[in-house]
Amino acid sequence: MKHSKEFHSVTYETTKGPITIEGPLSSEQLKKFNFHEKLIAFRPAKKQFEALLQIADFEEGRIIIARTEEMIVGYVTYLYPDPLERWSTFNMEELIVLGAIEIAPEYRGERVASNLIKVSMMDDFMENYIIISTEYYWHWDLEGTKLSIWDYRKIMEKMMASGGLSPAPTDDPEIISHPANTLMVRIGKNVSTEAIEQFDKLRFLTRYEQTKKRKQPISDLRNAPNKT
Ligand SMILES: CC(C)(COP(=O)(O)OP(=O)(O)OC[C@H]1O[C@@H](n2cnc3c(N)ncnc32)[C@H](O)[C@@H]1OP(=O)(O)O)[C@@H](O)C(=O)NCCC(=O)NCCS
Repeated sequence: MKHSKEFHSVTYETTKGPITIEGPLSSEQLKKFNFHEKLIAFRPAKKQFEALLQIADFEEGRIIIARTEEMIVGYVTYLYPDPLERWSTFNMEELIVLGAIEIAPEYRGERVASNLIKVSMMDDFMENYIIISTEYYWHWDLEGTKLSIWDYRKIMEKMMASGGLSPAPTDDPEIISHPANTLMVRIGKNVSTEAIEQFDKLRFLTRYEQTKKRKQPISDLRNAPNKT
């Protein structure tokens, strides 16, 4: 797949002044801005900015930012799944992950996150992707917000819904390890039926692999190495 990226920019008023939401941006464009020192939900701000610069230059990578005149105060990332995660099992070229979204604490509750996701979807090329986001409650800022797990989960759902992502069932062991964790999915209009079927297998990979084992011909089992 040739990944094309179309830039969009929207500015709106917040109680903290005007905020511009824009992207996807290249690493060169990102380097023109400062990075808010409180963007530390995933790692120290400096390290996180370095990670964003790398993702921005991946062929499929996308960084959309929220900024004041000169300071990045929020961002969302999209990229292929980590090779160590189940979501990369079939190397699906249509499958990208909304990997991280974060807003500096003083800019939260101003619809910045919802607008980041909305602006991401303005690029028609996003219709060629299945976009997933794996939500694990241990990544949430429960301490900073003083919200309960379930109230935080509500925010996640509302925020993701603004870009058309909705909860989808899966048997991924990490996700089902806690009822507040969830898989969020958006299937673009141009995604083929074959890709959707493959994604269904991926969502239920544990079940799919067990069924495959049960269907294994008896001759294969005979050739299997003896365990004793
Ligand atoms: C989760 C996070 C990205 C939300 O950012 P945000 O810009 O404050 O979100 P929005 O303003 O777009 O709010 C989305 C919805 O949640 C609601 N909401 C946001 N913060 C809230 C709060 N503290 N209490 C109650 N509701 C809240 C908003 O009212 C909005 O609902 P609405 O659509 O009915 O108006 C932000 O809190 C954050 O950076 N957290 C740390 C990192 C993190 O947890 N990332 C997610 C995992 S990848």
